[in-house]
Amino acid sequence: MSFSLIAAIGQNNELGKKGGLVFKIPGDLKFFKKVTTGHPVFMGLNTWRSLPGKLPNREHFVLTPDVAEIANDDVNPVTNLDDFIAAHKDSDEEIFVIGGGMVYKQMLPHCNKLYLTEVHASDADADVLFPNFDHSLYKREVLARGEDNNISYDHVLYTKG
Ligand SMILES: NC(=O)c1ccc[n+]([C@@H]2O[C@H](COP(=O)([O-])OP(=O)(O)OC[C@H]3O[C@@H](n4cnc5c(N)ncnc54)[C@H](OP(=O)(O)O)[C@@H]3O)[C@@H](O)[C@H]2O)c1
Repeated sequence: MSFSLIAAIGQNNELGKKGGLVFKIPGDLKFFKKVTTGHPVFMGLNTWRSLPGKLPNREHFVLTPDVAEIANDDVNPVTNLDDFIAAHKDSDEEIFVIGGGMVYKQMLPHCNKLYLTEVHASDADADVLFPNFDHSLYKREVLARGEDNNISYDHVLYTKG
């Protein structure tokens, strides 16, 4: 089990814009909730700051260079990524890596499952991108398709090996 990753990405790997999401897709937020609820979530400080608060029914781990940044937040601070990976890589729990760009880039090699919502739209103003990865290393399965606010998307599961 161990680490899985979940993200919504545009046609040009768009992930974030001005500290928030690029696309407003209610159906994707529902998918995110369904997939991650009951599992620990791991994110970078910028993503934690972008949330309105804690996500219900999920233990939170937040990667930050400075633990004082989140001293008053009810989350588990992570300051050493290698130690965190070593402590959890053989866990029975599925820990979801939920962003953002910096954290996806570092965690991608450690994730066996990637739940990617592939959004059929682009935005030239996006300032955070999902990292390029070698698709040939994964089996690709479309779990569902949807459309919201005239934007269509596929929920795709990439499984390594
Ligand atoms: N589309 C999606 O599915 C999705 C999901 C999540 C987030 N997002 C978007 O992505 C954007 C945020 O992404 P981001 O790349 O700016 O930030 P991020 O990955 O959320 O967090 C970056 C923070 O984590 C710290 N950090 C990174 N690696 C570290 C390490 N190895 N050790 C200690 N600290 C480390 C950084 O420290 P330093 O300051 O020292 O570099 C920085 O403070 C937002 O726009 C958000 O809305 C999109």
